[in-house]
Amino acid sequence: MSIAAKLGRPDILALTPYSHAAWDPSLERLHANENPWRASADKSDAGLNRYPEPDPITLESRLATLYGVTANQLLVGRGLDEGIDLLMRAFLVPGRDALVQCPPTFGMYAVAAKIQGAEIIHVPLTGDGTFALNVNGLLAACSARTKLVMLCSPNNPTGNVIPRDQIRALARQLNDQALLVVDEAYIEFSDTPSLLDCLTEHPNLVVLRTLSKAYGLAGARCGTVLAAPDIIDLLRRIRPPYSMATPATEAILCALSADARREAKTQVSLVISERARLQHALAAIPLITRVYPSEANFLMVACQSADTLMARAKRAGFLLRDVSYHPQTRACVRITIGTPAQNDRLLEGLSIP
Ligand SMILES: Cc1ncc(COP(=O)(O)O)c(C=O)c1O
Repeated sequence: MSIAAKLGRPDILALTPYSHAAWDPSLERLHANENPWRASADKSDAGLNRYPEPDPITLESRLATLYGVTANQLLVGRGLDEGIDLLMRAFLVPGRDALVQCPPTFGMYAVAAKIQGAEIIHVPLTGDGTFALNVNGLLAACSARTKLVMLCSPNNPTGNVIPRDQIRALARQLNDQALLVVDEAYIEFSDTPSLLDCLTEHPNLVVLRTLSKAYGLAGARCGTVLAAPDIIDLLRRIRPPYSMATPATEAILCALSADARREAKTQVSLVISERARLQHALAAIPLITRVYPSEANFLMVACQSADTLMARAKRAGFLLRDVSYHPQTRACVRITIGTPAQNDRLLEGLSIP
């Protein structure tokens, strides 16, 4: 029995998916009740009067090349937020199933699980400042009702990675008991390689990637769930038709050209070098008591007063993210790496009492 058949919601496994209008670009479209004329403001190639490809096959085959997998191993959605939501809806039976997460971490896992009516089990990262996984605690927290275990590497907001070997061992231990979902939204900024090369070996492993960070496409909304074909098949059953809007798809395909990818790589290198510069410079500001190492495009700092740091940043014209809501990140603030000029101005603003 496949993992999806074993862990998926029985009603979703039995669902007859929506049957969308036929897609055949060689024929004229008088079958989808569209307007035959373009709107005057329509600057798209394909025409916004037409529905987009019902399943975004063109986009998914480009993403398969980008991520080095086959097209049946991935599903694209409107940002990773949609991919996370689809995972919850496909695998968590409301009022019965549970998700395990390791706070402090990305807030959408808990929100999506709550919306789904699932139980959320928290296994906090270690409180010694390394934010490591509590592997034994995590395994002990998993029961027959646990369908999803969420990890984030590099983790938001702490910036540290979970060692690959640890994740692979966990995938083996959870085997056909639960999906191990690893959110790699920030992996391009890290020295640690992605786990995408482990998908075939671990049928319960799910990797999440996004174009919002390293590729500069947060506004286009493009997130990808990568997993074994049976898991992807199940998610496809509940993805709405025409989910990727034409302007977004056209922008994303442009951004995946060889030139654009080279440019994105250069930007990632600059972010990484600015991260190292900021790490030193922030540590010299008396209000800041600790700068945590980071493999993402942000740094988390602990300070004497998060409110004071936020106020100084605001005075200098910047929004930062106060993450002191969690006991492990008390008086901590997350700072996104900006352009060199922005970073200079921020450093100056934070230094002035
Ligand atoms: C860890 C993590 N996962 C996912 C997302 C959401 O990504 P997307 O913009 O693709 O929805 C974010 C956004 O900040 C994030 O930090």
